[in-house]
Amino acid sequence: MYFMLNKMLTIAVLMLLFVAACNKPEQTTPTQDYKPTPYNLQVPNGFPLYIKNPDNPLTEEGVALGKRLYNEPMLSSNGRSCASCHIKEKSFSLPIHVGANGYRISVPPHINLAFKRHFNWTGSEKILDTLCMADFGPEFFNTDSAELYRNLSNNAYYRDAFYKAFLMDNIYNYRFVDLQRKIAHAISQYMRTIISSNAKYDKVMKGEETFTAQEQEGYNIFFSEVGDCFHCHQPPLFSDTEFHNNGLNSTFSGFDYGRFLVNNNVNDIGKFATPTLRNSSLTAPYMHDGRFATLEEVVEFYNSGVQASATIDPIINKKAPTYKLNLTTQQKQALVAFLKTLTDNSITY
Ligand code: HEC
Ligand code: HEC
Repeated sequence: MYFMLNKMLTIAVLMLLFVAACNKPEQTTPTQDYKPTPYNLQVPNGFPLYIKNPDNPLTEEGVALGKRLYNEPMLSSNGRSCASCHIKEKSFSLPIHVGANGYRISVPPHINLAFKRHFNWTGSEKILDTLCMADFGPEFFNTDSAELYRNLSNNAYYRDAFYKAFLMDNIYNYRFVDLQRKIAHAISQYMRTIISSNAKYDKVMKGEETFTAQEQEGYNIFFSEVGDCFHCHQPPLFSDTEFHNNGLNSTFSGFDYGRFLVNNNVNDIGKFATPTLRNSSLTAPYMHDGRFATLEEVVEFYNSGVQASATIDPIINKKAPTYKLNLTTQQKQALVAFLKTLTDNSITY
């Protein structure tokens, strides 16, 4: 009998809770018909389809929140924001970052990320939407979670913006990992909207401008067997989004192991994701470890500094055994002049 009573009581309590739960949306969210506005990302002609994430569709409100968060030092306990290392004027890159493991890493730019299939120099991340969750850790932001909750929920802009983007009416209802995920989602929505497609090169391709004679010569070297740059640095992204060993080293240690660090495959030793060359006049120094200070040094490397190894790319290997392009001074200058036509000073962000 006692057990029966107990059971009935439990059922009654459960029913009450159920009714309360059903009523809750009406009580707490008077604007329940509200939906964020879909964001229409304009993909330039000739670009591939952008990579969408069904879990994180682009919305006007999400992109706006993401842009604000990207520049928000409140996310960290050390005054850093994403923008501290991804500096707008440098095409969202930074001269060099020394990681916790001592690796010197050149910070990749944030342009045309919507079209990338993997991220970081070694392709260690596949999903843009959650990539920056690692940034909350000690190496980057060293975020104090209690402080972050407090700061965001005390801020009228963020209270409103998190609701408008993700219908989050009280961030304290979200575990820290879920809050981080929402922040990362908003920021990645913003990053997908940073598209660079309006360099002089693009205008020349559209017939709106013309190359100088020197730029044209550089173009011809880039897109022919003379320089053979175009196979890996394919337009329109100026990256084939694959991994290659372009001949920087003959022996390997530390970060130079490249993709091998991710998959332990000996065939991938020394391979790195082909970087975009768009805006590279703004992103010095160059290569995964920033070993070259100027584009002139990069061109001289391809011309006369290539190092052979077991995994060297077949395209580079075509120049074996000398690995020299034998470019004249004039040709090298022309190649650099062409690379500079990939600079886009009109990115909207
Ligand atoms: C302390 C400097 C630093 C901060 C702060 C920082 N990053 Fe980065 N970021 C890097 C470095 C270094 C890499 C390259 C890592 C690698 O390749 O292994 C990188 C890579 C990336 C990439 C991959 C880009 C590509 O083309 O593959 C994305 C996306 C990114 N960061 C987003 C962010 C976001 C969003 C934030 C803020 C939440 C942020 N970063 C904060 C240094 C930083
Ligand atoms: C086999 C593929 C391949 C070919 C061919 C190739 N590259 Fe690269 N390029 C890469 C890869 C991979 C990297 C990054 C390597 C690294 O950091 O370890 C790179 C890096 C660069 C960078 C530095 C970009 C940055 O942001 O750090 C420039 C500039 C560049 N290449 C220009 C050229 C030019 C000019 C040519 C032709 C002379 C050329 N590349 C030929 C694959 C290639």
